[in-house]
Amino acid sequence: MNEPFYSVKNLTKVFGGGQEQVVAVKDVSFDVTPGEIIAIVGESGSGKSTLARMLLKLSQPTAGTIMMDGEDVTKLKRPNQLKPYWRDVQGVFQNPAGSFNQFYSVRTVLEKTFNLHEHRLSKAEKLERIHKALNLVGLDPQQTLERGSHELSGGQRQRVIIARALLVDPRLLIADESTSALDASLRVTILNVLKDLSQRLNLSVLFITHDIGQAYYLADRVFVMYRGEMVEQGPTETVLQFPQHDYTKRLLADVPRLEGWTASPGDLSIEELAKALT
Ligand SMILES: Nc1ncnc2c1ncn2[C@@H]1O[C@H](COP(=O)(O)OP(=O)(O)OP(=O)(O)O)[C@@H](O)[C@H]1O
Ligand SMILES: [Mg+2]
Repeated sequence: MNEPFYSVKNLTKVFGGGQEQVVAVKDVSFDVTPGEIIAIVGESGSGKSTLARMLLKLSQPTAGTIMMDGEDVTKLKRPNQLKPYWRDVQGVFQNPAGSFNQFYSVRTVLEKTFNLHEHRLSKAEKLERIHKALNLVGLDPQQTLERGSHELSGGQRQRVIIARALLVDPRLLIADESTSALDASLRVTILNVLKDLSQRLNLSVLFITHDIGQAYYLADRVFVMYRGEMVEQGPTETVLQFPQHDYTKRLLADVPRLEGWTASPGDLSIEELAKALT
């Protein structure tokens, strides 16, 4: 049985106070099982990044709990308590250009990750992991390692960022809009990299996007966020064919702009949905 290892209950984040108060995330609950890909879809300002930052323990929830392997990690605060957690749960952020020092070589960027995580590995073991991670994201180590990151294409840089996350053997990867800076064909290759990694490494992925087409392409399950609340969650095909919440229905109703979409989603077969969305 594929049991959930990660579980979030009633997670809430409130910014500010009084009149200025913003409830960015409200009562969000879900589980993650090993190796599944979940897309979190929602419009701008719906709380996706705020949720991601809490899951990555970069921001403290106002209320609610985060459990991993049955252990409550919500209150962990000190970096030395969080280091083991940060090995298991890795983030891949949007804006690859800003993600690391442009003047470092890929080798330096990747080697620095080990310092951060205090891995007790020999130099040879580190290099072996670096090679493995680059291969996993489809980059040739020989051709990549000594290059400056400013010499890489957007797609290559994105792959290096994913490779860096893989160095510490994470179980959950949280990717926040990591393909938004890429053009359509590159985006598909990165989605394919994530899909492939998830299968090969039994890695769980939380993929955050406002593009329901990408969610359809990639995810086993889709969660829909609307104004801080998770209004829908279910298997991708169920959510897209039988949307329950008005917001999801509207989201899908906007898809005709994508071409060839005429009927309402519920009237389409999965094959037709796939054709309309990809
Ligand atoms: N540090 C902060 N202080 C105050 N309000 C914040 C802060 N961060 C986010 N918010 C507010 O919380 C709400 C959710 O923002 P969030 O960035 O999580 O949305 P998002 O779904 O990631 O949007 P996008 O698709 O544009 O990235 C917004 O109203 C935003 O203005
Ligand atoms: Mg965001």
